[in-house]
Amino acid sequence: MTTMSDGAVLHVRSPVLKAFLEAVRQTVEREPDRAQVIRALRPSFARLLADSSWLPEEFRQPDPSGGMGEGVGNYLIYRSAARDLSLMSLVLGPGVSTPVHDHLAWGIVGLYAGRQEEWVYRRTDANGEGGPVDLTVVEHNRLSPGDFYDLLPPEGDIHQVRTTSAEPSASIHLLGNDIGCVWRHRYEPEEHRVQPFRSGYSNEPCPEPLQSGPTG
Ligand SMILES: [Fe+2]
Repeated sequence: MTTMSDGAVLHVRSPVLKAFLEAVRQTVEREPDRAQVIRALRPSFARLLADSSWLPEEFRQPDPSGGMGEGVGNYLIYRSAARDLSLMSLVLGPGVSTPVHDHLAWGIVGLYAGRQEEWVYRRTDANGEGGPVDLTVVEHNRLSPGDFYDLLPPEGDIHQVRTTSAEPSASIHLLGNDIGCVWRHRYEPEEHRVQPFRSGYSNEPCPEPLQSGPTG
């Protein structure tokens, strides 16, 4: 791990990654509208996904004790000092699914290796906190390397992904928060339940003190 002089964390050294992170930094600084940030970063993100050389092997391995479930690796690649940006790789072994979950921040997510399918959910109850949760599938997508999609809550923020290839899938996530360390939600649609959860990272502890935890 490298902790940079400004307190950011960088786990991977590569010119293509460095150029991408610089584009992210400049775009976020000049553009307050997150939809515009996403739009402006699409070409840079496409280049990052198209370059198969920069992500080390250890960031492409399933994690038997992953915080999103057995076989799910969450590898932190970069985190800003303010913890308002993170880049990570999510690795799922063949046939492995994430729970249904949200992200609570803007982001761009793209497939780097393997193949995945994704179900996007919309919450259709009006219960707010504490009531039974109703979720409806609004999209089913099949993803190949180079495909990517936006996250701009609340729209499209709840999903589940599963590896459909014989080899593990790795997807690259740029998020406008410290995605592994924030408290967010996992859903059990058939039980109409939601629970607070924190995925953690497979390669980096979350800083203490903990960010605000579940209240109920
Ligand atoms: Fe996700």
